[in-house]
Amino acid sequence: MAQSLVVSAQEMDSQMQCAARVREGFPGRTYHIVTYGCQMNAHDSENLAGMLEEMGFAPAAQEEADLVLFNTCCIRDNAERRLLGNVSALSQRKREKPDLLIGVCGCMMQQAGGAQRLLSLCPFVDLVFGTHNLYRLPELLLSALSGQKVLAIGGDERGRIPEGLPVKRASAIQGSLTIMYGCNNFCTYCIVPYVRGRERSRRLADIVREAEEMASAGIQEILLLGQNVNSYDGGATFPELLRALDGVVPRIRFMTSHPKDLSDALIAEMARSRSVCPQFHLPVQSGSDKVLREMNRVYTRAHYLERVRALRQAVPDVGLTTDIIAGFPGETEADFQDTLSLVEEVQYDSAFTFIYSPRAGTRAAAREDFVPPQVQHERLDRLIALQETATARALRSQVGSVQQVLIEGASRRREGYLAGRTGRGMTVNFPGPSSLIGKLVFVRILGTGANTLRGEIAQGECSK
Ligand code: SAH
Ligand code: SF4
Ligand code: F3S
Repeated sequence: MAQSLVVSAQEMDSQMQCAARVREGFPGRTYHIVTYGCQMNAHDSENLAGMLEEMGFAPAAQEEADLVLFNTCCIRDNAERRLLGNVSALSQRKREKPDLLIGVCGCMMQQAGGAQRLLSLCPFVDLVFGTHNLYRLPELLLSALSGQKVLAIGGDERGRIPEGLPVKRASAIQGSLTIMYGCNNFCTYCIVPYVRGRERSRRLADIVREAEEMASAGIQEILLLGQNVNSYDGGATFPELLRALDGVVPRIRFMTSHPKDLSDALIAEMARSRSVCPQFHLPVQSGSDKVLREMNRVYTRAHYLERVRALRQAVPDVGLTTDIIAGFPGETEADFQDTLSLVEEVQYDSAFTFIYSPRAGTRAAAREDFVPPQVQHERLDRLIALQETATARALRSQVGSVQQVLIEGASRRREGYLAGRTGRGMTVNFPGPSSLIGKLVFVRILGTGANTLRGEIAQGECSK
C-alpha cells in the first residue's frame, strides 16, 4: 500500500482551536469563494466553506464579503490569466475598504513561482496558501485577521491527507467524495503532479464512513474523486472500494480513470454493481501512438481501443466521455488524423477538447517544435465539429427508451420543467412538479435538444 500520510489528530485539533479563536475574536464576518478548475478544486472549496462557517463566517455576494478567497487552477494558461485579471480588479475595493481580506489559494499558488507572480502584480493580497496547506486555513486566517501578511506555500511536497475537515456541500442531492489525492504519472504536458503532490489514498474505512454520512444526509449520488481513481490503493483496490460502497447510495460515479489502469476487475465490478452508473470518463488525449509516447501516457491506441471494446461488451449501454489535447508539440497532420479517426471509431457521448498550453517546468514545455496557434485552433475546430455529430448520434440513440433520472432541479430553460441526468450522464428536461426534485424517477425519452434530451415522466419499468 502507498504510504499514508494522514495529518495527525493533534494538528487537526490545533486547527480547530484556531477556528474557535477566529469565531470568538472576529464575529459577524462574511466570505465569498471564487473557484476555478476541476471538480477536485470545487470540492476543496466545499471544505474551505465548511472551515469558514465553522469559524462563524457567513456566505455573501462578492461585493459585500469581508473575505474574498480565490481557489485557483493552473492547468492551462487561460485559467491563470482569468485569475490575475479578477484579483487585479479588486485593487480599487481594497483601497476603499482596507479591512477587506483577499486570499488566494489552490494549484496556481502551489506552482513554482505562482505566488510570486501573483504578489508582484497584486501586492495588496493578504493571504496566500497552496494545496498542501488547505487544512491550515483556521491558523492562517487567524494570522491574516491579526494584521499579518500570510504566505504558506511550503509543506511536504508528497502532500498529506487531512481527515475530518468540515464541509459545506453545494448540493443536497449530489456530493463529491475524494478517495485519493495527487498524481504520479507525470504526463509530459501536465502541471498537476507538481501542484498536487504524490498519489496518496484515503483508508477504505474513512471513505465508507463519509459515504454513509452523505447517505444519511439524503445525498442520492456520490462522485468519487481522484486524479487517477483506478490506481486507488488504500488497503483495497478500486474495484474493491466500489464493491464496499455498493448500495450505500443509489448512484455512484467516479473520475478520472487512466486507461493504463483500467482492469478487467474494474470492468466486471461496473457490470455487476447496482450503484455504479454506466458512465466512464476515459481521457485518451491523442489517437497517435507517437504523440501518446511523447506525452508519457504509457498506453497505445490499440490498447485503449481494446479496453473500450471490453468495457462495452460488459456494460453495453455505457456512455464514454474523454479529454483530448489538440496541437501537442510535434503533432503532425497525420498524427491529428489518428486522433480524428479514433474519435470517429469510439463514438464518445461527449469530449472535453483543449489546445495544448505549455506549463513551465513540464517536459513538453522545454520542446521547440510547437505547433503554430492557428494550426492548433483549426485542429480544435475540426475535432469539435466531429464530436458534435457523435454527441447528436448518442443523444438520438436514447429516444424511445425509458431511463432512470435523478432530478437535480428546475429546468433553467423552461417554466414548469425539471432537469436531471440519466445513469449514462445525459441531461433530460421534462415537465413535472418541483416536489420531485432530489428524487429518482423513470422518464420516457421523446426527443433531443442541442446537448440534452427531452422526455416525460413514465410509469413502470426502466429499460435500464
Ligand atoms: N487526471 C486527469 C485529468 C487532469 S487535467 C487525467 O489524467 O485524465 C484534465 C485535462 O486537462 C487532461 O485530461 C488534459 O486533457 C488537459 N490538460 C492537462 N494539461 C494540459 C495542458 N498543458 N494543455 C492542454 N490541456 C491540458
Ligand atoms: Fe496530469 Fe497525467 Fe496526472 Fe492526469 S494522469 S493529472 S493528465 S499527469
Ligand atoms: Fe484541477 Fe486545475 Fe488543479 S484542473 S488539479 S484545479 S491545476
